[in-house]
Amino acid sequence: MVEKYYDTSKEHIIKSAEDSLKALNTDYLDLFLIHRPDPFMNMDEIAEAFYELHKSGKVLYFGVSNFTPQQFSALQSKMNFPLVTNQIEISPYNLEHFNSDNIFFLMEENINPMAWSPLAGGKIFDSKNEKSKRILEALKKVAKELNIDSLDTIVFSWLLNHPVGIFPISGSGKIYRLKNAVKALEVKLTREQWFAIYEASLGHRVP
Ligand SMILES: NC(=O)c1ccc[n+]([C@@H]2O[C@H](COP(=O)([O-])OP(=O)(O)OC[C@H]3O[C@@H](n4cnc5c(N)ncnc54)[C@H](OP(=O)(O)O)[C@@H]3O)[C@@H](O)[C@H]2O)c1
Repeated sequence: MVEKYYDTSKEHIIKSAEDSLKALNTDYLDLFLIHRPDPFMNMDEIAEAFYELHKSGKVLYFGVSNFTPQQFSALQSKMNFPLVTNQIEISPYNLEHFNSDNIFFLMEENINPMAWSPLAGGKIFDSKNEKSKRILEALKKVAKELNIDSLDTIVFSWLLNHPVGIFPISGSGKIYRLKNAVKALEVKLTREQWFAIYEASLGHRVP
């Protein structure tokens, strides 16, 4: 017997949603995501589970997480209402989805990605990490130019300024850090400032 496997069966999805309703002591969920792609997933079954949860009013909106564009389209093709997001890792530390085309696929579909680990789980502030050190230097420079004292505000503004319309999910439970994140809604970065942070992460200039 294997110790671990993914379960995206219709029964499991419906039970997970119902368990969340109980745990949150509520009648409906605003948004329900499939956490990660499952190599054995049956898109028809997932779509059926979503349809039932939607029809019964238990869930308003559905999305996925860590899906490739192809996986997203395959599930969408089985559904009669739109998926609203793909929650993927995006931060100045992790540029993967700018290169995987996931971000531009979502732009084509007019879908806002959610960004998990927008501060790379805190790693972005680790001054012993060479990549973080470069990013921190760039963040400090931009913060100085904009007269902003919290570097996390600059990170959130870097995400929020991207034209795809990223919804970052902060992992901090500290109110002052959430306030720093909210401040980013007011910050406009120039293209040059955005690229300074991007290039710091790459460790070299763009070609
Ligand atoms: N879909 C997925 O596969 C997936 C994967 C991972 C996470 N997620 C979701 O995404 C959410 C956010 O992810 P995350 O927790 O990695 O987010 P994050 O916001 O990148 O990281 C939060 C961590 O960074 C620390 N931090 C924040 N500001 C800091 C600063 N100025 N200096 C040093 N450390 C700082 C926080 O510490 P404090 O607590 O002290 O503020 C916390 O430990 C999670 O809650 C989870 O729901 C989803």
